Amino acid sequence: MNTRATFGSKLGLIMASVGSAVGLGNIWRFPCEAGENGGGAFLVVYIFCVLGLGTVVMLAEFFIGRASQNDSVGAFKTLAPNTMWKIVGYNGVLAAFLIFGFYSVVSGWTLEYMYQSITGNLKADSVEEFNETFGLFTSGIFRPIMWIVIFTVITHLVVLSGVKKGIERASKIMMPLLFVILIILCIRSLLLPNAGAGLKFFFYPDFSKITSKVVLSALGQAFFSMSVGMGCMITYASYFNKSINMPKTAVSVVTLDTLVAILAGIVIFPAVTSFGISPAQGPKLVFVTLPNIFQQMPFGSLWALIFFLLLALAALTSIISIHEVVTAYLHDQYKMSRRKSATIVSLCGFAVGVVCSLSFGILSDFKILGFTIFDFLDFVTANLMLPLGGMFICIFTGWYIDKKILKAELTNNGTVKFGLFSVFVFLLKYIAPVIIAMVCVNQLGIF
Ligand code: PHE
Repeated sequence: MNTRATFGSKLGLIMASVGSAVGLGNIWRFPCEAGENGGGAFLVVYIFCVLGLGTVVMLAEFFIGRASQNDSVGAFKTLAPNTMWKIVGYNGVLAAFLIFGFYSVVSGWTLEYMYQSITGNLKADSVEEFNETFGLFTSGIFRPIMWIVIFTVITHLVVLSGVKKGIERASKIMMPLLFVILIILCIRSLLLPNAGAGLKFFFYPDFSKITSKVVLSALGQAFFSMSVGMGCMITYASYFNKSINMPKTAVSVVTLDTLVAILAGIVIFPAVTSFGISPAQGPKLVFVTLPNIFQQMPFGSLWALIFFLLLALAALTSIISIHEVVTAYLHDQYKMSRRKSATIVSLCGFAVGVVCSLSFGILSDFKILGFTIFDFLDFVTANLMLPLGGMFICIFTGWYIDKKILKAELTNNGTVKFGLFSVFVFLLKYIAPVIIAMVCVNQLGIF
């Protein structure tokens, strides 16, 4: 166990965790959820979920990962031998696998749009035409699948090169680049005419819009965006060395993740209102509305290229972490080589990706509980598996684990300060599990 890989530097470790957190979730999923769920009202609930619940689950995951030095299933087997707690780990591995499927589809779309901006073909006469092009592309067979193959191969190669060389190096270069590009786009968007209306939609909360669906969506989005509830942060924390200040790291990751989501909102909503488009477009928001906006800006193709490059980079650092959850599980639990585990994950993940992609075309009539396969996997993972996983992670850490062990690990045996420890334990034991349970039960209509 002493030979377990670790991240090489503090910065690299924070960048890798931020890289996992910041992804399509922030830039594609967040504006789409906020646009559909009332803008400002959604933002308020979202921030509450991030601060009150997400951060708590993240820190609990950090504890589980570093204390056990194990993958997400092995961690529960180590800390709670011969109990059912390992099911929480299995839930995470399964969620990772399913998320990999639909995530690779959207990641593939970002490559297509990058390609279209390079060749100068990202042009149309109206939003309707962009809508049609998007529909034609996503419902096709060959092209979307080809991009999934390319994205999966890139992911596979990064995961194969291991923790320090692959994941850490890739994130260290990509994350700062992403911030720079995002800030440039923010400035561009804020200079558009009528940008104020978009800002008002995004920041001004209309509390009458808060329904149980809005709350569940915000909760699911918070967990999805922070990569918590499925053992991703358990897996990454198992590579942390023992001198890392984990409470501080969690705060940095959460702050940066939330900042990127808000920046993405500032890029998208002013642009949306400036051109008189509805913010409630769903998953198409980024892919249909933005190209229309870019083409009306000077040097539009260049802006489009930069934006989709940013989205692809963000997707890559996240999908790497999703892939790593399953790879680490196979590697640790079945003693397979990294190469073999990574290959199995890439091949199986690719198969799920293909099915998800086809659910926009030839499989679009195949519905599970009224959802297409893509929407079903998105809903079940983000709105059920992650919140429930997070709830059990809180119960496990809050009730099962000895508080002395918890405190010793989170304060590095008393060498770093964690002043809010009792607040953390209180949220962990009483607040987070109860609220998550209430939201899920309420949404399922049993309440
Ligand atoms: N947090 C990532 C994003 O925002 C997605 C993700 C979910 C990554 C779960 C890992 C685990 O895009």
